[in-house]
Amino acid sequence: MRLIIALILGVTLVSLASSWSDVQDDKEALRRDLQYKAETFGESLASNAELYLASGDTGKLEQLVRRFSNRDHLLGIGIYDHDGSTLVMTRELGSLLSGAPEALSSALSHDRPETRFTRLRFRRVYLLAAPLHAPDKSIIGGIVIVYETGYIRTEIFRVWGRVFIRIAGQVLVIVAITLLIVRWSVAGPIARAAQWMKTLRTGRQVVQPPSKDLDFLLPLAREMAPLAESMQRARAAAEIEARLRNTNESLWTAQRLAEHVRSKLDGSSLFVVSNREPYVHNWQGNTITVTVPASGLVTAIEPILCACNGTWVAQGSGSADAETVDNHDRLQVPPDDPKYTLRRVWLSAAEEEGYYYGFANEGLWPLCHMAHTRPTFRASDWEFYNAVNERFADALVEEMAGERDPVVLIQDYHFALLPRMIKDRIPHARVAIFWHIPWPNPESFSICPWQRELLDGLLGADLIGFHVQAHCNNFLSTVDRVLEARVDWEHFSVKRNDHWSSVLPFPISVELTEDSSGLPLDHSFEEERSAIIGELGIDATFLGVGVDRVDYTKGIIERFQAVESFLERHPRYQGKFTFIQIGAPTRSNIPRYAEFQREVESEATRINDRFKRGKWRPIVFLNRQHSHKEVRRYYRAAHVCMVTSLHDGMNLVAKEYVAARSDDRGVLILSRFTGAARELRDALIVNPYDIQGTGQAIARALEMDVTEIVDRMRRMRKMVKEHNIYWWAASLIGELCELRLKR
Ligand code: F6P
Repeated sequence: MRLIIALILGVTLVSLASSWSDVQDDKEALRRDLQYKAETFGESLASNAELYLASGDTGKLEQLVRRFSNRDHLLGIGIYDHDGSTLVMTRELGSLLSGAPEALSSALSHDRPETRFTRLRFRRVYLLAAPLHAPDKSIIGGIVIVYETGYIRTEIFRVWGRVFIRIAGQVLVIVAITLLIVRWSVAGPIARAAQWMKTLRTGRQVVQPPSKDLDFLLPLAREMAPLAESMQRARAAAEIEARLRNTNESLWTAQRLAEHVRSKLDGSSLFVVSNREPYVHNWQGNTITVTVPASGLVTAIEPILCACNGTWVAQGSGSADAETVDNHDRLQVPPDDPKYTLRRVWLSAAEEEGYYYGFANEGLWPLCHMAHTRPTFRASDWEFYNAVNERFADALVEEMAGERDPVVLIQDYHFALLPRMIKDRIPHARVAIFWHIPWPNPESFSICPWQRELLDGLLGADLIGFHVQAHCNNFLSTVDRVLEARVDWEHFSVKRNDHWSSVLPFPISVELTEDSSGLPLDHSFEEERSAIIGELGIDATFLGVGVDRVDYTKGIIERFQAVESFLERHPRYQGKFTFIQIGAPTRSNIPRYAEFQREVESEATRINDRFKRGKWRPIVFLNRQHSHKEVRRYYRAAHVCMVTSLHDGMNLVAKEYVAARSDDRGVLILSRFTGAARELRDALIVNPYDIQGTGQAIARALEMDVTEIVDRMRRMRKMVKEHNIYWWAASLIGELCELRLKR
């Protein structure tokens, strides 16, 4: 209704404004017309009157005045002598004028005609006064001619009448057209969008909003589409939850984890610390792109932080990271749907060199992985490690300011000193650290010159998590051996300086859903295999796959040698079996890594040169970073996946392979020195140092009866499904939040 009133007022005002000047023009034209008529009439009347006046013939003057007095709109004529006395005058004019009008006096004194639009006794008139001359041009009298002008007013009223009728017509037409347009192009799409939202709310399977004719609602539609998707995902997850609850099963999902953590935290704020950040901003030409590192940690931690609006503190490592934070080095993420805070900590090149490349990766990494690479401990690296842990402690303390009961989850060996630093400054914080790599036996650990400081730093935490019980036991033995502390072997905890730390296993995992193979519905596993063989330009019947960072702990060279041994002992597979190694470059600033990269390349070349024939090669080494999606294609295509780490905390490749095999096919060959080997008992467990034994496992995998393959894979999938990444995060945070209640 308001729209209609506004429209009527608007159109009326615009039409009135444009008609106003037309009407004024009409009025001016009528007045000009009257002036012209009066002037020509006055001139012809004056020339006759001058003749009769000069001869003093008043009778003729009267006749003259009478003869002309009945013209249209003429009110009267008056003739005066030179001093303004009336000589002759029509009767009606006589009743309006008392004496000579002022215009006549002015005309006589200036000897020129005078005109006026004026009023005579309330009548609107046009008055013309002019001098009358003798033949010698002397003034002998004057003439006054008066027209009534009321008809001009009447005519203008008539014009306004017509204008109003026209405006009313225009208003009607414009309002009608506008209403039709609104109905067709606004109300219609809005009604359809509303219908779509209703359908969505009531749970029918529509995800995309109706894009047809939604042009001007497009920005809204763009926002609504992700909203719709999240709603549908949430509903689907809730339905699965409900179904599982009904069947007494209990699968952990991102939603269930979020709920669980919300209730465990009970209003406390959660802070996560890791060296790697979950979102990296980089310049690409003139634009900033954002990437999510292919890390299982982001999958697990993100739903928790999203659920409780927490804070993730990590090193800013992207080329455009500094441009995307606010004055406090914070930004809201995920970028598309911000739900938690990412706080970036900036490290100098020297700090990164000493803390990350130096102490963490040339010291602690080889120390904890018994892979026969000698750890290097430099005092300068140790100082940087301390300084960077302090930097992160400062950032955390800043973020936790004013928090009632903060909960802190520290990730990995980069931050062994951080738990103590936090506890010293905020004793009421609940602190956990999860150590993602193995913990060696006390003898091995004792070569570290700063073993006491590292252990003391870790024991600042209320909870210390490892992947497997064996690593917990090694840690407790190390503490027992090195520090003054009471180790409680019954409850797997340590008391040092009146503070208890629980030391428990939390085996990390991946997400496994029925579609986590990522395979398009119209694409079979065999088709994927042929596609990959085609893309690589090789001939092969059987494929094996390995996926690793090119790290000396992963047993890549032993794996290649196992392939060589297998082909030697089972020559019928020459020309048929190809092993694809996806190897992501890593930590290449460290000389041992650069050297290892060359060793892997030359070992692949040596074995290929020995066996290759035609388009077939035994080993394909794809030496670049691959996305999760790309890697999943290889998992689906491979008959066998090889994980031959010399030592590994868990190894998620083993679990990712199992998660990708929704066809229940594929055989996993798994090193007994991985954490995963304790859970995936249906893999073919090998000692990677036993090259021939591992080669035999390849043969066994390729020749395994299909029912055995299916049975083994099903059991492994069940294990990963029930103990997935969300279960890991839920157990860790649940345990941390309950610690004080227990004591
Ligand atoms: O295995 C320990 C770990 O820190 C993982 O969490 C991570 O995926 C991997 O090492 C690689 O770490 P980065 O590339 O950050 O050195």
